[in-house]
Amino acid sequence: MTDLFSKFDPLIQQRETLLATGVTDPYNLVMEKVVSPTVAICNGRETILLGTYNYMGMTFDEDVIAAGKDALDKFGAGTTGSRVLNGTYQGHKECEEALKEFYAMDHAMVFSTGYQANLGIISTIAGKGDYVILDIDSHASIYDGCAMGNAEIVAFRHNDVEALEKRLKRLPPEAGKLVVLEGVYSMLGDVAPLKEMIRVSKENGAMVLVDEAHSMGFIGEHGRGVAEAQGVLDDVDFVIGTFSKSVGTVGGFCVSNHPKFEILRLVCRPYVFTASLPPSVVATAATSIRKLMHGSNKRAHLWENSKLLHKGLRDLGFQLGTEEPQSAIIAVIMPDLEQGAMMWEALLEEGLYVNLARPPATPAGMTLLRCSLCAEHSSEQVGEILGRFERAGKRVGIIG
Ligand SMILES: Cc1ncc(COP(=O)(O)O)c(C=O)c1O
Repeated sequence: MTDLFSKFDPLIQQRETLLATGVTDPYNLVMEKVVSPTVAICNGRETILLGTYNYMGMTFDEDVIAAGKDALDKFGAGTTGSRVLNGTYQGHKECEEALKEFYAMDHAMVFSTGYQANLGIISTIAGKGDYVILDIDSHASIYDGCAMGNAEIVAFRHNDVEALEKRLKRLPPEAGKLVVLEGVYSMLGDVAPLKEMIRVSKENGAMVLVDEAHSMGFIGEHGRGVAEAQGVLDDVDFVIGTFSKSVGTVGGFCVSNHPKFEILRLVCRPYVFTASLPPSVVATAATSIRKLMHGSNKRAHLWENSKLLHKGLRDLGFQLGTEEPQSAIIAVIMPDLEQGAMMWEALLEEGLYVNLARPPATPAGMTLLRCSLCAEHSSEQVGEILGRFERAGKRVGIIG
Protein backbone atom coordinates (compact mmCIF):
# COMPACT_ATOMS: atom_id res chain seq x y z
CA MET A 1 0.00 0.00 0.00
CA THR A 2 1.31 3.45 -0.87
CA ASP A 3 0.97 5.74 2.12
CA LEU A 4 -0.98 8.70 0.76
CA PHE A 5 0.67 10.83 3.43
CA SER A 6 4.19 10.36 2.02
CA LYS A 7 3.76 13.52 -0.06
CA PHE A 8 3.81 15.50 3.20
CA ASP A 9 7.21 14.12 4.29
CA PRO A 10 9.25 17.21 3.27
CA LEU A 11 6.90 19.48 5.23
CA ILE A 12 6.92 17.14 8.26
CA GLN A 13 10.73 17.14 8.13
CA GLN A 14 10.93 20.94 7.88
CA ARG A 15 8.57 21.31 10.84
CA GLU A 16 10.45 18.80 12.96
CA THR A 17 13.76 20.54 12.25
CA LEU A 18 12.28 23.89 13.25
CA LEU A 19 10.66 22.62 16.46
CA ALA A 20 13.87 20.72 17.38
CA THR A 21 15.53 24.11 17.88
CA GLY A 22 13.21 24.51 20.87
CA VAL A 23 11.22 27.36 19.34
CA THR A 24 7.47 27.64 20.20
CA ASP A 25 5.23 26.33 17.42
CA PRO A 26 4.16 29.53 15.63
CA TYR A 27 1.08 27.82 14.15
CA ASN A 28 -0.41 26.51 17.37
CA LEU A 29 -1.00 29.57 19.53
CA VAL A 30 -4.05 29.56 21.79
CA MET A 31 -5.75 32.80 22.81
CA GLU A 32 -6.90 31.95 26.31
CA LYS A 33 -8.97 35.09 26.64
CA VAL A 34 -9.68 37.93 24.25
CA VAL A 35 -9.96 41.19 26.15
CA SER A 36 -10.55 43.63 23.28
CA PRO A 37 -9.80 43.94 19.53
CA THR A 38 -6.18 44.74 20.44
CA VAL A 39 -5.43 42.70 23.58
CA ALA A 40 -5.61 38.98 24.45
CA ILE A 41 -4.19 36.65 27.06
CA CYS A 42 -1.73 34.19 25.47
CA ASN A 43 0.37 31.77 27.59
CA GLY A 44 -1.01 33.55 30.66
CA ARG A 45 0.46 36.89 29.48
CA GLU A 46 -1.33 40.05 28.35
CA THR A 47 -0.48 40.36 24.68
CA ILE A 48 -0.98 43.18 22.18
CA LEU A 49 -2.58 41.80 19.02
CA LEU A 50 -0.87 42.93 15.83
CA GLY A 51 -1.85 40.12 13.49
CA THR A 52 -5.62 39.78 13.43
CA TYR A 53 -6.82 41.66 10.28
CA ASN A 54 -9.40 43.15 12.62
CA TYR A 55 -8.72 46.46 10.86
CA MET A 56 -11.67 48.45 12.13
CA GLY A 57 -11.89 46.77 15.54
CA MET A 58 -15.55 45.82 15.09
CA THR A 59 -15.36 42.50 16.99
CA PHE A 60 -16.21 44.20 20.31
CA ASP A 61 -18.46 46.97 19.01
CA GLU A 62 -21.41 47.24 21.41
CA ASP A 63 -24.08 47.54 18.70
CA VAL A 64 -22.62 44.65 16.74
CA ILE A 65 -22.64 42.39 19.79
CA ALA A 66 -26.17 43.44 20.77
CA ALA A 67 -27.44 42.67 17.24
CA GLY A 68 -25.85 39.20 17.37
CA LYS A 69 -27.36 38.40 20.78
CA ASP A 70 -30.79 39.59 19.70
CA ALA A 71 -30.72 37.45 16.54
CA LEU A 72 -29.56 34.44 18.55
CA ASP A 73 -32.56 34.87 20.85
CA LYS A 74 -35.08 35.51 18.08
CA PHE A 75 -33.88 33.17 15.29
CA GLY A 76 -31.86 30.45 17.06
CA ALA A 77 -28.32 29.19 16.75
CA GLY A 78 -28.24 28.18 13.08
CA THR A 79 -30.24 27.85 9.89
CA THR A 80 -29.46 24.17 9.22
CA GLY A 81 -29.91 24.81 5.53
CA SER A 82 -28.71 26.12 2.19
CA ARG A 83 -29.56 29.64 1.06
CA VAL A 84 -31.73 28.18 -1.72
CA LEU A 85 -33.80 25.99 0.61
CA ASN A 86 -34.51 26.77 4.26
CA GLY A 87 -31.37 28.86 4.89
CA THR A 88 -32.42 32.36 3.83
CA TYR A 89 -33.73 34.33 6.81
CA GLN A 90 -34.68 37.97 7.04
CA GLY A 91 -31.15 38.62 8.38
CA HIS A 92 -29.46 37.30 5.22
CA LYS A 93 -31.55 39.65 3.09
CA GLU A 94 -30.80 42.57 5.45
CA CYS A 95 -27.11 41.79 5.22
CA GLU A 96 -27.30 41.85 1.41
CA GLU A 97 -29.23 45.14 1.56
CA ALA A 98 -26.50 46.61 3.79
CA LEU A 99 -23.85 45.53 1.27
CA LYS A 100 -25.75 47.00 -1.68
CA GLU A 101 -25.98 50.30 0.18
CA PHE A 102 -22.37 50.19 1.31
CA TYR A 103 -21.11 49.75 -2.28
CA ALA A 104 -24.00 51.55 -4.02
CA MET A 105 -24.43 48.52 -6.28
CA ASP A 106 -27.47 46.63 -7.57
CA HIS A 107 -26.73 43.10 -6.36
CA ALA A 108 -25.14 41.43 -3.37
CA MET A 109 -24.73 37.76 -2.60
CA VAL A 110 -23.57 36.55 0.84
CA PHE A 111 -21.49 33.38 1.15
CA SER A 112 -20.45 31.42 4.23
CA THR A 113 -16.80 32.61 3.90
CA GLY A 114 -14.69 34.83 1.65
CA TYR A 115 -12.91 31.70 0.50
CA GLN A 116 -16.22 30.33 -0.75
CA ALA A 117 -17.10 33.63 -2.40
CA ASN A 118 -13.98 33.45 -4.59
CA LEU A 119 -14.35 29.73 -5.12
CA GLY A 120 -18.00 30.12 -6.11
CA ILE A 121 -17.95 33.23 -8.26
CA ILE A 122 -14.76 32.44 -10.20
CA SER A 123 -15.60 28.78 -10.82
CA THR A 124 -19.15 29.61 -11.91
CA ILE A 125 -18.47 32.46 -14.31
CA ALA A 126 -15.18 31.18 -15.81
CA GLY A 127 -15.54 27.62 -17.07
CA LYS A 128 -13.89 25.30 -19.56
CA GLY A 129 -12.64 27.24 -22.58
CA ASP A 130 -12.62 30.58 -20.70
CA TYR A 131 -9.49 32.33 -19.42
CA VAL A 132 -8.74 33.64 -15.96
CA ILE A 133 -5.86 36.11 -16.03
CA LEU A 134 -4.51 36.62 -12.53
CA ASP A 135 -1.67 38.13 -10.57
CA ILE A 136 0.83 35.40 -9.66
CA ASP A 137 0.58 36.36 -5.96
CA SER A 138 -3.19 35.81 -5.83
CA HIS A 139 -4.81 34.33 -2.73
CA ALA A 140 -5.30 30.54 -2.56
CA SER A 141 -9.08 30.92 -2.84
CA ILE A 142 -8.63 32.58 -6.26
CA TYR A 143 -6.42 29.76 -7.53
CA ASP A 144 -8.85 27.18 -6.13
CA GLY A 145 -11.76 28.93 -7.86
CA CYS A 146 -9.89 28.69 -11.18
CA ALA A 147 -9.13 25.00 -10.64
CA MET A 148 -12.73 24.22 -9.74
CA GLY A 149 -14.10 25.99 -12.81
CA ASN A 150 -11.59 24.34 -15.11
CA ALA A 151 -10.75 27.60 -16.89
CA GLU A 152 -7.32 28.22 -18.42
CA ILE A 153 -5.14 30.03 -15.88
CA VAL A 154 -2.86 32.78 -17.22
CA ALA A 155 -0.68 34.26 -14.47
CA PHE A 156 1.25 37.52 -14.78
CA ARG A 157 4.03 39.07 -12.70
CA HIS A 158 2.86 40.70 -9.49
CA ASN A 159 1.36 44.18 -10.03
CA ASP A 160 2.92 44.42 -13.52
CA VAL A 161 0.53 46.27 -15.86
CA GLU A 162 2.65 45.61 -18.96
CA ALA A 163 2.79 41.88 -18.24
CA LEU A 164 -1.00 41.81 -17.84
CA GLU A 165 -1.46 43.63 -21.16
CA LYS A 166 0.94 41.27 -22.97
CA ARG A 167 -0.88 38.19 -21.68
CA LEU A 168 -4.27 39.63 -22.65
CA LYS A 169 -3.16 40.46 -26.19
CA ARG A 170 -2.01 36.87 -26.76
CA LEU A 171 -5.45 35.40 -26.00
CA PRO A 172 -8.09 34.68 -28.66
CA PRO A 173 -10.18 37.87 -29.03
CA GLU A 174 -13.49 35.96 -28.95
CA ALA A 175 -12.69 33.92 -25.79
CA GLY A 176 -14.35 34.66 -22.44
CA LYS A 177 -11.83 36.42 -20.18
CA LEU A 178 -11.89 37.26 -16.49
CA VAL A 179 -9.09 39.36 -14.98
CA VAL A 180 -8.82 38.73 -11.24
CA LEU A 181 -7.04 41.31 -9.08
CA GLU A 182 -6.74 42.14 -5.39
CA GLY A 183 -6.90 45.68 -3.99
CA VAL A 184 -4.31 45.03 -1.27
CA TYR A 185 -2.02 42.00 -1.41
CA SER A 186 -1.94 40.57 2.07
CA MET A 187 1.62 39.30 2.21
CA LEU A 188 3.48 42.58 1.65
CA GLY A 189 0.54 44.92 2.20
CA ASP A 190 1.05 46.57 -1.20
CA VAL A 191 -1.71 48.08 -3.30
CA ALA A 192 -2.46 47.14 -6.93
CA PRO A 193 -2.39 49.74 -9.74
CA LEU A 194 -6.06 48.97 -10.37
CA LYS A 195 -6.72 52.02 -12.51
CA GLU A 196 -4.21 51.02 -15.20
CA MET A 197 -4.94 47.31 -14.89
CA ILE A 198 -8.67 47.78 -15.30
CA ARG A 199 -8.16 50.07 -18.29
CA VAL A 200 -5.96 47.47 -20.00
CA SER A 201 -8.43 44.68 -19.14
CA LYS A 202 -11.39 46.54 -20.61
CA GLU A 203 -9.46 47.52 -23.74
CA ASN A 204 -8.87 43.82 -24.30
CA GLY A 205 -12.44 42.68 -23.75
CA ALA A 206 -12.06 41.16 -20.28
CA MET A 207 -14.43 41.30 -17.32
CA VAL A 208 -12.80 42.30 -14.03
CA LEU A 209 -13.14 40.87 -10.53
CA VAL A 210 -11.41 42.63 -7.62
CA ASP A 211 -10.96 40.98 -4.24
CA GLU A 212 -11.03 43.81 -1.68
CA ALA A 213 -10.65 41.53 1.39
CA HIS A 214 -7.90 43.68 2.93
CA SER A 215 -9.17 47.11 1.90
CA MET A 216 -12.91 47.04 2.53
CA GLY A 217 -13.87 49.26 5.45
CA PHE A 218 -10.55 51.09 5.45
CA ILE A 219 -9.36 52.27 2.03
CA GLY A 220 -11.36 54.74 -0.08
CA GLU A 221 -13.53 57.64 1.04
CA HIS A 222 -16.44 55.35 1.95
CA GLY A 223 -14.27 52.36 2.77
CA ARG A 224 -15.25 50.60 -0.47
CA GLY A 225 -11.66 49.65 -1.20
CA VAL A 226 -8.78 50.39 -3.54
CA ALA A 227 -11.04 50.56 -6.63
CA GLU A 228 -12.93 53.41 -4.93
CA ALA A 229 -9.70 55.15 -3.89
CA GLN A 230 -8.42 55.02 -7.49
CA GLY A 231 -11.78 56.15 -8.93
CA VAL A 232 -12.51 52.98 -10.92
CA LEU A 233 -15.15 51.16 -8.88
CA ASP A 234 -17.75 51.68 -11.65
CA ASP A 235 -15.55 49.72 -14.05
CA VAL A 236 -15.27 46.67 -11.79
CA ASP A 237 -17.69 43.89 -12.73
CA PHE A 238 -17.47 41.94 -9.45
CA VAL A 239 -16.17 42.96 -6.04
CA ILE A 240 -15.38 40.12 -3.64
CA GLY A 241 -15.00 40.67 0.07
CA THR A 242 -15.01 39.00 3.45
CA PHE A 243 -16.62 39.61 6.83
CA SER A 244 -13.57 38.11 8.58
CA LYS A 245 -11.44 41.28 8.48
CA SER A 246 -12.84 44.83 8.79
CA VAL A 247 -16.40 43.60 9.36
CA GLY A 248 -15.20 41.62 12.37
CA THR A 249 -17.17 38.38 12.05
CA VAL A 250 -17.22 35.60 9.44
CA GLY A 251 -18.68 35.32 5.93
CA GLY A 252 -17.99 36.41 2.38
CA PHE A 253 -19.74 38.28 -0.40
CA CYS A 254 -19.82 39.41 -3.99
CA VAL A 255 -21.39 42.69 -5.14
CA SER A 256 -22.05 43.59 -8.77
CA ASN A 257 -24.12 45.65 -11.19
CA HIS A 258 -24.29 42.86 -13.77
CA PRO A 259 -27.93 42.64 -14.92
CA LYS A 260 -27.95 38.82 -14.90
CA PHE A 261 -26.18 38.51 -11.53
CA GLU A 262 -29.10 36.93 -9.63
CA ILE A 263 -28.93 33.72 -11.71
CA LEU A 264 -25.75 32.88 -9.79
CA ARG A 265 -27.89 31.95 -6.78
CA LEU A 266 -29.04 28.87 -8.69
CA VAL A 267 -25.83 27.79 -10.39
CA CYS A 268 -23.02 28.62 -7.97
CA ARG A 269 -22.17 25.39 -6.16
CA PRO A 270 -20.35 26.84 -3.09
CA TYR A 271 -23.49 28.95 -2.53
CA VAL A 272 -26.07 26.23 -3.15
CA PHE A 273 -24.44 23.17 -1.58
CA THR A 274 -23.52 24.44 1.86
CA ALA A 275 -25.38 25.72 4.93
CA SER A 276 -25.93 29.46 5.23
CA LEU A 277 -24.43 31.63 7.96
CA PRO A 278 -26.13 31.56 11.39
CA PRO A 279 -28.62 34.40 12.07
CA SER A 280 -26.38 35.88 14.77
CA VAL A 281 -23.50 36.14 12.28
CA VAL A 282 -25.47 37.90 9.55
CA ALA A 283 -26.95 40.25 12.16
CA THR A 284 -23.47 41.20 13.40
CA ALA A 285 -22.25 41.60 9.81
CA ALA A 286 -25.16 43.82 8.73
CA THR A 287 -24.78 46.06 11.81
CA SER A 288 -21.04 46.30 11.35
CA ILE A 289 -21.31 47.14 7.61
CA ARG A 290 -23.82 49.91 8.36
CA LYS A 291 -21.51 51.36 11.02
CA LEU A 292 -18.52 51.18 8.64
CA MET A 293 -20.41 53.53 6.31
CA HIS A 294 -19.76 56.20 8.96
CA GLY A 295 -16.23 55.11 9.87
CA SER A 296 -14.21 58.01 8.45
CA ASN A 297 -12.69 58.98 11.83
CA LYS A 298 -11.62 55.42 12.45
CA ARG A 299 -10.18 55.19 8.94
CA ALA A 300 -8.13 58.34 9.55
CA HIS A 301 -6.79 56.99 12.87
CA LEU A 302 -5.87 53.67 11.24
CA TRP A 303 -3.85 55.53 8.59
CA GLU A 304 -2.02 57.39 11.39
CA ASN A 305 -1.22 54.08 13.10
CA SER A 306 -0.01 52.55 9.88
CA LYS A 307 2.31 55.49 9.13
CA LEU A 308 3.62 55.57 12.71
CA LEU A 309 4.45 51.86 12.76
CA HIS A 310 6.02 51.86 9.29
CA LYS A 311 8.29 54.79 10.07
CA GLY A 312 9.16 53.48 13.52
CA LEU A 313 10.13 50.02 12.27
CA ARG A 314 12.17 51.46 9.42
CA ASP A 315 14.00 53.84 11.77
CA LEU A 316 14.85 50.84 13.97
CA GLY A 317 16.55 49.22 10.97
CA PHE A 318 14.00 46.56 9.98
CA GLN A 319 13.57 45.72 6.30
CA LEU A 320 9.95 46.24 5.26
CA GLY A 321 7.78 44.93 2.43
CA THR A 322 6.93 48.38 1.05
CA GLU A 323 8.84 51.68 0.84
CA GLU A 324 5.82 53.60 2.12
CA PRO A 325 2.82 52.38 4.12
CA GLN A 326 0.16 51.47 1.54
CA SER A 327 -2.40 49.70 3.74
CA ALA A 328 -2.91 48.52 7.33
CA ILE A 329 -0.51 45.62 6.72
CA ILE A 330 3.19 46.19 7.42
CA ALA A 331 5.40 43.22 6.51
CA VAL A 332 8.78 42.86 8.22
CA ILE A 333 11.18 40.77 6.12
CA MET A 334 13.15 38.13 8.05
CA PRO A 335 16.47 36.64 6.86
CA ASP A 336 15.13 33.05 6.94
CA LEU A 337 12.47 30.82 8.51
CA GLU A 338 14.55 29.90 11.55
CA GLN A 339 15.35 33.50 12.50
CA GLY A 340 11.79 34.49 11.63
CA ALA A 341 10.44 31.89 14.06
CA MET A 342 12.92 33.03 16.74
CA MET A 343 11.88 36.64 16.28
CA TRP A 344 8.19 35.66 16.35
CA GLU A 345 8.76 33.85 19.65
CA ALA A 346 10.82 36.72 21.12
CA LEU A 347 7.98 39.12 20.29
CA LEU A 348 5.45 36.80 21.91
CA GLU A 349 7.60 36.71 25.04
CA GLU A 350 7.58 40.52 24.96
CA GLY A 351 3.76 40.35 24.81
CA LEU A 352 3.21 41.04 21.10
CA TYR A 353 1.46 38.80 18.61
CA VAL A 354 2.21 39.06 14.87
CA ASN A 355 1.74 36.55 12.02
CA LEU A 356 4.67 34.46 10.86
CA ALA A 357 4.27 33.86 7.11
CA ARG A 358 6.48 31.59 5.06
CA PRO A 359 6.59 30.02 1.58
CA PRO A 360 4.57 28.90 -0.32
CA ALA A 361 2.12 31.54 0.98
CA THR A 362 4.73 34.32 0.63
CA PRO A 363 6.20 35.74 -2.60
CA ALA A 364 9.82 35.07 -3.63
CA GLY A 365 10.41 32.51 -0.86
CA MET A 366 10.35 35.21 1.83
CA THR A 367 9.77 34.70 5.55
CA LEU A 368 7.70 37.57 6.89
CA LEU A 369 6.46 38.87 10.19
CA ARG A 370 3.19 40.38 9.12
CA CYS A 371 1.74 43.11 11.24
CA SER A 372 -1.85 44.20 10.72
CA LEU A 373 -2.97 47.32 12.51
CA CYS A 374 -6.35 48.03 14.03
CA ALA A 375 -8.23 51.34 14.27
CA GLU A 376 -8.59 50.57 17.99
CA HIS A 377 -4.81 50.52 18.60
CA SER A 378 -3.98 53.67 20.53
CA SER A 379 -0.91 55.75 19.60
CA GLU A 380 0.54 54.63 22.98
CA GLN A 381 0.09 51.00 21.98
CA VAL A 382 1.93 51.65 18.71
CA GLY A 383 4.79 53.17 20.75
CA GLU A 384 4.74 50.08 23.01
CA ILE A 385 4.79 47.81 19.91
CA LEU A 386 7.90 49.58 18.58
CA GLY A 387 9.66 49.16 21.94
CA ARG A 388 8.91 45.44 21.90
CA PHE A 389 10.18 45.10 18.31
CA GLU A 390 13.38 46.88 19.27
CA ARG A 391 14.08 44.66 22.29
CA ALA A 392 13.20 41.41 20.47
CA GLY A 393 15.10 42.43 17.32
CA LYS A 394 18.27 43.14 19.31
CA ARG A 395 17.94 39.92 21.32
CA VAL A 396 17.60 37.77 18.18
CA GLY A 397 20.19 39.79 16.25
CA ILE A 398 17.92 40.98 13.44
CA ILE A 399 18.87 44.61 14.13
CA GLY A 400 22.06 46.03 15.64
C1 LIG B 1 -7.35 38.19 -0.47
C2 LIG B 1 -8.21 37.26 0.30
N1 LIG B 1 -9.32 36.78 -0.26
C3 LIG B 1 -10.13 35.94 0.40
C4 LIG B 1 -9.85 35.52 1.69
C5 LIG B 1 -10.77 34.54 2.38
O1 LIG B 1 -11.53 35.14 3.34
P1 LIG B 1 -12.26 34.30 4.48
O2 LIG B 1 -11.40 34.33 5.70
O3 LIG B 1 -13.56 35.00 4.70
O4 LIG B 1 -12.48 32.91 3.98
C6 LIG B 1 -8.72 36.00 2.31
C7 LIG B 1 -8.42 35.58 3.69
O5 LIG B 1 -7.35 35.57 4.19
C8 LIG B 1 -7.86 36.87 1.61
O6 LIG B 1 -6.73 37.34 2.16
